[in-house]
Amino acid sequence: MDGKALAARVRQEVAAEAAELGRPIGLATVLVGDDPASHVYVRSKRNACEEAGIDSIHHELGATTSEEDVLALVADLNADGRVTGILVQLPLPDQIDEERVIRAIAPIKDVDGFHPVNAGLLLQGTPTLLPATPAGIMELLATHDVQLQGARAVVVGRSNIVGKPVSLLLLMQHATVTICHSRTRDLVAVCREADVLVAAVGKPDAVTAEMVKPGATVIDVGINRVDGRLVGDVAEDAREVAGLLTPVPGGVGPMTIAELLRNTVKAARYQTGALAFPRL
Ligand code: GUN
Repeated sequence: MDGKALAARVRQEVAAEAAELGRPIGLATVLVGDDPASHVYVRSKRNACEEAGIDSIHHELGATTSEEDVLALVADLNADGRVTGILVQLPLPDQIDEERVIRAIAPIKDVDGFHPVNAGLLLQGTPTLLPATPAGIMELLATHDVQLQGARAVVVGRSNIVGKPVSLLLLMQHATVTICHSRTRDLVAVCREADVLVAAVGKPDAVTAEMVKPGATVIDVGINRVDGRLVGDVAEDAREVAGLLTPVPGGVGPMTIAELLRNTVKAARYQTGALAFPRL
């Protein structure tokens, strides 16, 4: 499944929608500290914004920044009319409570979909701003006509960013969903049942050939650096057993960025009233 090609289509669509809106759209990115991977991700997100006609408003803070200062910046961005969406890149340095920062973002500007209001609306089956990686995974599955109704879906990983939200989206499409994690007993046997297997572990070779049912659809969310090379969570030999699968790089990664842009335009439409955000 070619995420790069699909993401290019989505980005074109989003650029057209952004132009149609007839008012400036701005994505504020907040990067705290000097995690090299985070710097790379944020740069990609900012470039994608500019290309789609979305203003990129970037804030970079030092590794020793206090939680108070990050919260003050988020409050400013909430109040700033030029800022349509707010993205605080994770992880944050240890002295900062990530959950508290996420809760400080106005839900209507929460283009990551991480705020408890947006996460809760997704849980209840009325999604608003969806986390970008799960949204991208669902778009890849839909584009390739992967049958989800009644299918066995197994998600390995239970993070708030990927594992939990993608499980809810698969459930909404009437899959029978199992969430696995580091304490799952008999992980191999559980994974081998999957018609759709989502690997969101963050470890190379977390999914091996024996864990894949021949012909299954495998989504590899991993981005791991091994000897200067990017590899996913799915081992090379498992890739041969799969029916459809996403490459790394060029699979889920580009879709995440495309869906972030989609969310930013959606947030703008919530803010103009073109779309109704649920009343709280
Ligand atoms: N860190 C890893 N993935 C993400 C993401 O999707 N959004 C943000 N803000 N931080 C991340």
